[in-house]
Amino acid sequence: MTPKSSLLIRRARILLPNGEFLVGDVQICDRQIVKVAAEIVESGDREIDAKGLTLLPGVIDPQVHFREPGLEHKEDLFTASCACAKGGVTSFLEMPNTRPLTTTQAALDDKLSRAAEKCLVNYGFFIGATPENLPDLLNANPTPGIKVFMGSMHGQLLVDGEATLEAIFAAGDRLIAVHAEDQARINQRRQEFAGISDVAVHSQIQDNQAALLATQLALKLSKKYQRRLHILHLSTGDEAELLRQEKPSWVTAEVTPQHLLLNTSAYQKIGSLAQMNPPLREPRDNEILWQALLDGVIDFIATDHAPHTLAEKAQDYPNTPSGMPGVETSLPLMLTQAVEGRCTVAQVANWMSAAVAKAYKIPKKGAIAPGFDADLVLVDLENYRPVVREEMVTKCGWSPFEGWNLTGWPAVTVVGGKVVFENGKLDTNVRGEALTFDAE
Ligand code: DOR
Repeated sequence: MTPKSSLLIRRARILLPNGEFLVGDVQICDRQIVKVAAEIVESGDREIDAKGLTLLPGVIDPQVHFREPGLEHKEDLFTASCACAKGGVTSFLEMPNTRPLTTTQAALDDKLSRAAEKCLVNYGFFIGATPENLPDLLNANPTPGIKVFMGSMHGQLLVDGEATLEAIFAAGDRLIAVHAEDQARINQRRQEFAGISDVAVHSQIQDNQAALLATQLALKLSKKYQRRLHILHLSTGDEAELLRQEKPSWVTAEVTPQHLLLNTSAYQKIGSLAQMNPPLREPRDNEILWQALLDGVIDFIATDHAPHTLAEKAQDYPNTPSGMPGVETSLPLMLTQAVEGRCTVAQVANWMSAAVAKAYKIPKKGAIAPGFDADLVLVDLENYRPVVREEMVTKCGWSPFEGWNLTGWPAVTVVGGKVVFENGKLDTNVRGEALTFDAE
């Protein structure tokens, strides 16, 4: 039997599960937290002096696009997981629009074995719905759920007919996560705005109404079958107001930092780097989304990390691809909001870890307490540093937030009891584990 290795984090400001802070020590044995106390007398094989730093549960990012297999010129599971470790993201749930598409058990197994080889952090992969793969959707394992692109997608992953959607909602009981944009409306508006190459038109083509129509339909089907539904990257005030009026207890929703913090004014500053789906909206939408998050109408935060190369982004609209990276900046972006008084640090940790673990039924994640997995991030809430393009680890090599001065940058990231990021350096020998998901 291999001896157990222990790690002690000393004198950290520890976020406890009740939202309070304790200045003290955390003892980790192998992959698990074993003790949290004001002072732990035992010593550890390895000790970290965390004086002045705040210890939070590692971020679980529930919506990312990591491009492997098939699109590795944009990103791969190694580079993406390095970016995660640097950003304090200790687990991720990845989307099926890779090549081949993740629409079968074989494709899911292939991703899981690639991740076991390459990923510095923990991983889970959605199974993608097509109009034809119901048996795959029912049986795929392990997976956080079924991803349905109701719009804003082409090819096999587009599931935009109500009858096809209804068949998916009617069969089985596992979580359905929807990208809610109405493809018929997008198609019609694409024709109306054809010939315009100003990227700002993207937000008019895929407008608020397109998002609202699809969210209404997903809610209708979820209610009819009492089916567990998650609405990905809510982007409009209209959808948030709808959910405020009628959100069944089995429905959850998420928002991205960019839909909270950026709006259509970003097109003037960063052009097509601001292009994503669903698109950025108006300042009014930012405000309503924030309030919905604060009020619990929106449950948690995802980045929708969707890297594309600068060369791809330099084409003319509509040839520019939609999407922006996010895992390196999401935690400092949100913690900066907390330090500046918009929310609390405990709320950020809930939205970026505990609430995600709860919604996806990921056992033993999301809290700093004995028996939980030692996926942790020590952040520095005292100092500010700007987002710098040259420091980005994501393969795409840019961020929509370049120049933003942020606090709350990770100083140390721990995955499964192992230090994976410290003093600005990654330990690329660390490997995460496949996430598990309890049954609905
Ligand atoms: O902007 C986006 N980019 N939204 C999506 O839903 C897909 C993603 C991508 O894969 O590039």
